[in-house]
Order: sequence, then C-alpha cells, then structure tokens
Amino acid sequence: MAEARYSDDQLTAGRRLFSAPASFRLGVAKLEQLPPLKGTEVAFAGRSNVGKSSLINALTGVKGLARASNTPGRTRELNFFDVDGRITLVDMPGYGYAKAPKAEVKQWQDVLKGYLRGRPGLTRVFVLIDARHGVKSEDKEMFDMLDETAVAYQLVLTKTDKIKPKELAEVTAQTQALIKTRAAALPSFFATSSETLGGMDELRAEIAGLIR
Ligand code: GTP
Ligand code: MG
Repeated sequence: MAEARYSDDQLTAGRRLFSAPASFRLGVAKLEQLPPLKGTEVAFAGRSNVGKSSLINALTGVKGLARASNTPGRTRELNFFDVDGRITLVDMPGYGYAKAPKAEVKQWQDVLKGYLRGRPGLTRVFVLIDARHGVKSEDKEMFDMLDETAVAYQLVLTKTDKIKPKELAEVTAQTQALIKTRAAALPSFFATSSETLGGMDELRAEIAGLIR
C-alpha cells in the first residue's frame, strides 16, 4: 500500500517504450465506432480538468498530442492514441463539472460508461485524482462502476507540483484509506506532475509491464 516501486530494468523498459513514436489513432463519439484492439489498451479517467490529456502528453513526451485546456470539458470523445503499435492509450471525457450543454455532456458520459462497462481487452483504467482536492463523490461513483464491472483500476494523483509535501502526504493517506476496501482497485498508486514529470517514469514502467 504505497507509491508503486520499480526496478531499474522496469524503469528502462518504460522509458524505452515511450521513446517510440506516439500518434493519434481516432476519436470516438459513439460506441459503434470503437476500433479493434491494437496492443494493450489502457484508459485514463477522471473529473473534468484533472489533467488526463496533459498526462498523456507527458507520458509520450509529445506536446499537443492530446488536447489539453484550462476549460473543463475539453475532451469530448474517446480519443485513441497508439504507442509503437504495442500500447493504446485512451483519453476520455471528464466527469463532474464540464462546461458544456447538458445534453451533450450526457451523451459523452453515456459513451464513457458504455466503453468502461463493455470493452473486452481493456487492461487497466487509471483514475486520475487532483492531488489538491482528493477523492470526490463523482470519483466514488466511478470506483463503484469499475468495481461492479471488475475492471482493474489504479489511482494517479495529478498536479503534485501545486501542493506541499505535507499536503501530498495527507491526500495520499486519505486516498489509500478509500481504495483499501475497493474490489477492483490496485493498492499501489502514482503521484505525478505533468509539469515537472515527477512520477512519469514509474507510470511508464507500469504500463510497459502490462504488455503481454
Ligand atoms: P477534460 O478533457 O476537460 O476532462 O480535462 P483533462 O482532464 O484532460 O485536463 P487537461 O489535461 O486538459 O488539463 C487541465 C488543466 O490543468 C490545463 O490547464 C493543464 O495545463 C493543467 N494541468 C494538467 N496537469 C497539470 C500538472 O501536472 N501540473 C499543473 N500545474 N497543471 C496541470
Ligand atoms: Mg482532456
């Protein structure tokens, strides 16, 4: 129950994987449009503005690969990215407080849920939590859904550059206590910053380790 730890070999494998070319595959607004699996598929979920798109850019080292914005509700489709033909990263619309028309938000939430409930071959969902705010009620709803559908998920604290070490320790303790009893949650987590790239090599190592 702690921050995930890796050997030098694992860290090297992660760095190597993500030094390969990464590219946008497609955006999906309807479940019927889901593409066939390509390599190991992992998805990034979290409240609007938590930093999902920024994390994908930081992982791949490609600025602007996924579109990030200060306005919550930037990502409105499931966006599929390819890394070296071996990994598919799925950037998802946020939940919680997107600044967009209600009907539109509902439509993309339905796609998001449909995808998470019924994607055979989805290997892992990373649920991002803003380190400044900790776990919110909408996050718990997401945990409920993932526990029900038995999709393995792991938490990623984001924007750790914005808080002090003492605050990080507090949010870490709170988060760990909350996921302890969760059926499908992995006990280890990541503390990251897309600004300083803190925690990025560890997350890369984890993802590289998921390749079969
Ligand atoms: P939606 O697509 O709207 O759900 O948002 P998102 O989760 O994809 O968030 P996005 O990556 O667009 O980032 C939201 C804002 O937070 C942007 O202004 C980013 O620059 C900022 N941000 C993201 N990650 C970090 C981080 O690690 N540190 C800091 N300081 N800012 C960050
Ligand atoms: Mg986004």
